[in-house]
Formats: sequence, structure tokens, C-alpha cells
Amino acid sequence: MTDVIRFEKKNGIGVITINNPPANAMNFEAKKGVSQYIEACMQDDACKAVVITGEGRIFVAGADISEFGKKTPDGVPELEDLIQEIENSPKPVVAAINGLALGGGMELAMGCHYRLALPTVKVGQPEVNLGFIPGGGGTQRLPRLAGVELALEMIVTGKPIDANRALEAGAIDDIVEGDLLARAMEFATEQANSNQEPRRTCDQNEKVMNVDPKIFEDWRTRISRKSRNMESPFECINTVEASTKMDFKAGLENEREVFVRLRDSDEGKSMRYMFFSEREAAKIPDIPKDTKTQEIKKSAIIGSGTMGGGIAMNFANAGIPVVVVDVDKIALEAGLEKVRDNYAGSVSSGRITKENMDNCLSLITGTTNYKDIEDVDIVIEAVFEDMDLKKKIFAELDAVCKPETILASNTSTLNINEIASATERPDKICGTHFFSPANVMKLLENVRTEKSSKETLATIMRLAKIIGKTGVLVGIGDGFVGNRMLHISARIAEFMVEEGALPWKIDKVIYEFGFPMGPFAMNDLAGVDVRFLIRQEQKKLYGSRRQSVIIDRVYETGRYGQKTSAGWYKYGDGSRKGEPDQIIEDLIVKTSAELGYERRKFSDEEILETYLYSMINTGAQVLEEGLAARSSDIDVIWHYGYGFPRYWGGPMFYADLIGLPEVYKKVCDLNKKYGDWVKPSSLLKRLAEEGKGFKNL
Ligand SMILES: NC(=O)c1ccc[n+]([C@@H]2O[C@H](COP(=O)([O-])OP(=O)(O)OC[C@H]3O[C@@H](n4cnc5c(N)ncnc54)[C@H](O)[C@@H]3O)[C@@H](O)[C@H]2O)c1
Repeated sequence: MTDVIRFEKKNGIGVITINNPPANAMNFEAKKGVSQYIEACMQDDACKAVVITGEGRIFVAGADISEFGKKTPDGVPELEDLIQEIENSPKPVVAAINGLALGGGMELAMGCHYRLALPTVKVGQPEVNLGFIPGGGGTQRLPRLAGVELALEMIVTGKPIDANRALEAGAIDDIVEGDLLARAMEFATEQANSNQEPRRTCDQNEKVMNVDPKIFEDWRTRISRKSRNMESPFECINTVEASTKMDFKAGLENEREVFVRLRDSDEGKSMRYMFFSEREAAKIPDIPKDTKTQEIKKSAIIGSGTMGGGIAMNFANAGIPVVVVDVDKIALEAGLEKVRDNYAGSVSSGRITKENMDNCLSLITGTTNYKDIEDVDIVIEAVFEDMDLKKKIFAELDAVCKPETILASNTSTLNINEIASATERPDKICGTHFFSPANVMKLLENVRTEKSSKETLATIMRLAKIIGKTGVLVGIGDGFVGNRMLHISARIAEFMVEEGALPWKIDKVIYEFGFPMGPFAMNDLAGVDVRFLIRQEQKKLYGSRRQSVIIDRVYETGRYGQKTSAGWYKYGDGSRKGEPDQIIEDLIVKTSAELGYERRKFSDEEILETYLYSMINTGAQVLEEGLAARSSDIDVIWHYGYGFPRYWGGPMFYADLIGLPEVYKKVCDLNKKYGDWVKPSSLLKRLAEEGKGFKNL
């Protein structure tokens, strides 16, 4: 038998314990073990009933997705067959749900005849987050137990529910305070002694009968924008709907067919890839997992502007006291007022309670005196993007803060090695590059300087987790990883505008690909003036290359984006939705004439390829230069920082899906048009010639 399943028989009850740490995943070995013990119990007259439970704090967190695509070894049942075998058992089988039951774990529990759970348990069907649907009967059994509405909510959103809600809806039968296993065994004995047929979920048809089909249409409408281009969320709805139209067996067969198709689709592969990539990003090749980290009990933010206020909220939300410093009382009060407004907005929209808000606000204090932050464990500087100012501030922080305090900069473009040189503690200096709005965006590019210590880096990677961010470690370079790639692609998009495309046409193509918005709408959000100033700086570095003239022209009109109600788009009073504007179109046409371009048509395909392939090429350069440790880190950055659609797995994974020879060929064409902005990366060239992908690195 197997190590990952324990079995014992007590008082005529067979107890199967899944002990497959860390997640008790139903891998080949676990499935084989459970199946063999179930079989043995069926053969054993002295065994009256079975209890299935998990070791530790998890029941079963799902199937083992790392085994997807591998051939199932002989003698190992498919999960859905095992669940069916359990459901068909003539002897009662009770699930003693000791902890998280997700995906295949919840399906296993639903195949059992009864479900008892600890009060702390959560149950869910998160498969949609991995690009497929429940494939072990979840779409057929959950609506039968919990009703169609809750089943849709759980399966379509992937969000788990707690034990109380599960009990109320009928997904579990009872909550047990105290000794769950003892109660489950007692319950199993009662069932066995009752001489009644076990209650099988497949026979519970009441909740799937006479269901109003409007419920499914409503769900389709509800997810249509967010899930555009995706199959799995819609198939979640379709398969649950099938439970109301087909008998159980046909519903299961249909589920299986859809599951297999999605599992093997690009969407499924991309979403699973992102799942693993995120975990990978947390591992730094030269920083061992057991590297000591510093405790962050108190923090300070320098600057209470756009970024500083949002960053402070992250700490407060995580329960860490934070002192915000600004130059004078007026700037400070203005910054703190925005923070208060932000929280108040979350309360009125129901995202947090007033009590949450009060707790968070009580953790945020303000000062104009650096003396008040001498005892903090980390400082994050978010003042104007000015090297001299930042160096002055870091020297002051170095003098004021205790020796072990980590001093981090939120700079987007400045060289943090130089900032570190203003201090006597270069090992404690690093970058923490948040994305705007800093209290919302999940990405944190943690920046390693030449002298940042491993302890400092391990601490800020841990900090990312504590404040609910996805941390990716990057090296110092123009724009780090994300902005370096964005600035090239956005610039090329402006070149396309100068040559004949219109901003709203480009944005539409990028939106339809799956980004939340295109580069021009994004620019209106972040500020046309901000992009203009970045370009002015970059002219110093890349003056000999083609420059975007249209950004200068738009800037000169004073249209800075949403904040001035006009930028690339025009905005109605207080509206965030941009409308195409004839004034901009005229300005563009005039600029093209000024530059001597005869405006031409751009197809959607050309726009998409130009935008993405220039991005991918820059990504390959970033890899070559060692600014990112692995191509999947770039993908994580692009998903969490810029909304690259998860179902395409990020720019580098997308390039692999297309095939690097094809990407390289197009990059060479772009190089002819746009010169060194799209200088083919030698890494991309080598991989393309070797017929490999970024995945092979
Ligand atoms: N805005 C963004 O989208 C964004 C994104 C990522 C990173 N960043 C970076 O974050 C930093 C801050 O940007 P921002 O947009 O929040 O700027 P901002 O202009 O909104 O805020 C800067 C704040 O710093 C304060 N300040 C100036 N000198 C100070 C001093 N000596 N001591 C204390 N406070 C001082 C100002 O009063 C102001 O409140 C910059 O380095 C920027 O490059 C910005």
C-alpha cells in the first residue's frame, strides 16, 4: 500500500486518512491508496462503514495539477471514477472535513454520503482560476446539494465559502465542535446500524428541478466583461445549467468532455502556468529559503502624495503601524485627507466596514519631523522623482533611523545604487516599486541594488506577502522590468499613431486582446505630463533614435489626461470614460503631415503584433541583462502590474505559444521600421534558431 494514505479500523469503522502534505492533494498515489482501502472495506464484513478525513489542517486542497498531462499509471483510478465508486458504495461513507476542501477535495466530500465539518472549514471549487471546470462531478453534485445559485457563485467565481454558509445551503450536513473524527465515526455507526441505503448525492434531484433558466443568463451577463475571451467561466455556467436539464449520468459525461477540452486548451495551460509562476517568483535563486528576515513591526513612508498615501494604506490594512512624513503640515494634511477619503469610499461601497476603516486609520499617523521615525523597522521613500532630493532624504534617514532599519525607495526610474551611496548602510538599501493605485495594484517590484544584503531582500519579499502583494525581485535598469517594456511598446504605439492609426483603434485592439485598457487610456490615467517627462529624460539616453513627436504635441495642449478631463480622449464631467475627440484626431493628422508621413491603414492584427512583439523583445533583453531572474517573473509582473490577461499567461508565455521563430521574424521586421527601439534580442534570436522557447531556459 502507500505512505500518503493511512488506514485503521476501529469498532467496525474503516478510517481512511489522507496524509499527503502540504496540501493533501489527490495525486496518483493518494487516489490509488483511497481506492484500495475503500475496496478492502467493501470486502471486509467486519467493516460496517467508512470515514474519510485529512491529516493536519487541510482535508484535500484539490487534485494534483502538476500531474495534468501525465499518463495515469496502471491501477490508479481517475478521481471522478474513484468518487463514483465511493458514491456507489453500499456501506455508508462519511467525510470528516477537518480543513480546507477545495476542487477535487470538495468533490470527494460530495461523493461521500454525508459530510461533517469543523467550524473553521472552508469549501470551494476554485478550478475556474486555473482555466478549467470541476471535473470530478462538482458541477453536478454541488447544485444538487447547495442549490443552483450558490453552486454558480462558487464554481463561476472560484471563491470558497465558510462552514456556516455551507451548512445553511446543504453542502455539508453538520458542524462539529470538538472531536470531529470521533463524531464522524459515531455518525457512521448510526448510519450503518440504521439499515437504510446510504444517501447518495446523485439521487438528490429536488434542487435541480424546475430551475428558472434566467438565472444562467443573468450570470452570463454578469461575467461578460470581466471574462471576455475566456471559456472556462462560461463553461462553469453551462455545465451547472446542464445539471438542471440532463440526468446525472449524462451531466457527468458532459462535464468530463468539457473538463478535458479546457484542461488541454491554451487557456487552461496559461492559467496553470501563471499559478506555478507566482509561486516560483517567491523563490530567489541565490537567497535560500531559510534566510533570516527582519521583523516589520512599525513602518514609515516619506511623502504623502499619490503613491505615499496608497503605500501607507497597505501597511495599515496589514495591521502594521505606519508613520507618514511630509515636508509641511499642508502637504501632510492633504495627503492624509486623501487616505481618509479613500477608506470612506471603501466603506460606502461596502468593501470594508466602518470598524475596519477606524482600525486602519488608527494605525496611520502623520508628522513633519524625521525624529518621529527613528524606531521604525522599514522606511519607504515616495517623494518627487529627483535624485538630489532622494539622496538628501536618505542621508537624513540614515542619521535618524536605528542601524537595522531598511530604507527603501519607490523610485520608478532613478538608480538606487546612487541613492544608497548617500548612506552608511548600503546593505539595508533597496527598492520597493509599487504600482498605482498603490493600495489596489497587486504587484510589488522589489529592487536589488549592488549591495542589498540577502537578509534585506528576503525581508522585502516577505513583506510583499504580508501586505498582500505579489513580490517579484528585479535588478536596477531603466524602468526596471515592467516600465522598461511598457515604455517601448507605448512609444511604438505612438509611432503607429503618427503613421496612420488612431489611439482609440489601438486601445480597442489591446482591450479586445484582454488588457483592462490600451496604452492611451492608460496614459490618460497616469498622466500625459508624466509620460512626456519620462520621454524628456530618455531623450538624453536615446537621443539618436526616432522620438515620438505626438506625445510632445498632446502635452503642449495642456491635456494631461483624466486629471484635466482631457488627454488622448475627452472626458465628460467627472467621468472616467474617455470619448474619442476630433481635436486629437486633427492634431494627429497635422503631426503626421509635419513629419512627412502619408497616413496608412493599420489592421488589428498589425497593431496587436507590433505592440506585443516589441514588448516581448524588450522582455528578452531584460532577461539577457539579468534584470529578471526568469521569464515567468516577467509574466507575473505583466499580469499583476499591467493586467496582461492571465489566460494568455503573460508576454513571454504568449511568445512561446506563438512560437519564437515567428516572433523573431516579426521583431526583425519591426527593427527595420523602428530601429534600435526594437533591436532583436540575441537571446530571442538564439532560442528561435534552436527551435526552443523561453520555457526551456
Ligand atoms: N505616480 C505613479 O504612478 C508612480 C508609480 C510608481 C512609482 N512612483 C514613484 O513614487 C515617487 C512618488 O511619486 P508620486 O506620484 O507619489 O509623487 P507626488 O508628487 O504625488 O508626491 C510626492 C510627495 O512627496 C512630498 N515630499 C517632497 N519632498 C519631501 C521631503 N523632503 N520630505 C517629505 N516629503 C516630501 C511632497 O510634498 C508630496 O506629498 C516617485 O519617485 C515616483 O517616481 C510613482
